[in-house]
Amino acid sequence: MNQAEKERAAKVGKKLNVKAYIKAEIEAIRAQVGDKKVLLAMSGGVDSSVCAVLLHKAIGKNLTCVFVDHGCMRLNEAKEVKKVFKGKFGINLIQIDAEKRFLDKAKGITDPELKRKCIGGEFIQVFADVARDLKKKLGDIEFLGQGTIYPDIIESGVGGNKAVKAHHNVGGLPKDILFKGLVEPVKYLYKDEVRKVGKALGIPDEMVMRQPFPGPGLAVRCIGELTKEKLDILRQADFIFRDEMKKAGLDKKAQQFFAINTNVKSVGVKNGARTFGYVIALRAVATSQFVKAGIVELPFKFMVAVAEKIATKVKGVNRVVWDITPKPPATIEWE
Ligand code: XMP
Repeated sequence: MNQAEKERAAKVGKKLNVKAYIKAEIEAIRAQVGDKKVLLAMSGGVDSSVCAVLLHKAIGKNLTCVFVDHGCMRLNEAKEVKKVFKGKFGINLIQIDAEKRFLDKAKGITDPELKRKCIGGEFIQVFADVARDLKKKLGDIEFLGQGTIYPDIIESGVGGNKAVKAHHNVGGLPKDILFKGLVEPVKYLYKDEVRKVGKALGIPDEMVMRQPFPGPGLAVRCIGELTKEKLDILRQADFIFRDEMKKAGLDKKAQQFFAINTNVKSVGVKNGARTFGYVIALRAVATSQFVKAGIVELPFKFMVAVAEKIATKVKGVNRVVWDITPKPPATIEWE
């Protein structure tokens, strides 16, 4: 057993007892944080959502969550996060629209790792700016909350494993806003366990069962240079695909399904005229722990209908292809 495995065994035991875990984590957060304040970067994904609700239950108004919209979010994402976490749970949530700032920074960058690093680096700058402002308004904020989960620890290279891609988190904050401690209440849980905890905490199903969405968001699904036009096209195509999967009841079959803007343009014909538009790729994978992934067999008629709908409805797209490559050799995300 390596160190991470030992720590997981101590927190979770052989099989997760959800109720006991929630109770123990709330106590652990209170013991760690006391009456001090915590700042949490919330992405709207399952991990940081569960982390937010656990923290909120433990320390209430001493938690402030920040949702940074880096312009690579899915359609309506920011609105949904606000509705649930501010509306239903009453969590202190600040939303920052930083689309322009991110796209300006990423201008001209096409290399996948550089893009990831650019988005990650800018995220840290934006988050640091917000943290500085908040510290002026609220007084010191001693702790930083993070929705790190167990596979993040493994994939980031801890415990002897080699990192595959640069992962996006708020590590490496500037010295002037360093926090005294990190609070990571779901650090030793696998994804399915985080979902169970989220469900028990009363987070709505559509959020708890939501597929994982990478920190850099659509940036890793929008090949080549990031532009608002390409991202808007991708957002619309991705929304149609996810909506159709749900309507057909196929969403339960895949752990992740999404669209990619391939950055390739091809010729098509719309309303009798020649068009030159992007090729969108669609991918639906089945996986238990995201380390390996298989391809979900979708009904052929469904595949054709979705392709046609996207190519017809989304301006700027005239061709859709399906990615049926398992992981390995491909990764789940394209970049
Ligand atoms: P890959 O593409 O490496 O993805 O097969 C494995 C899982 O990790 C997610 N992923 C990320 N999650 N930050 C995250 O929080 C990231 O930078 C990131 N990159 C990939 C991916 O969606 C899949 O579930």
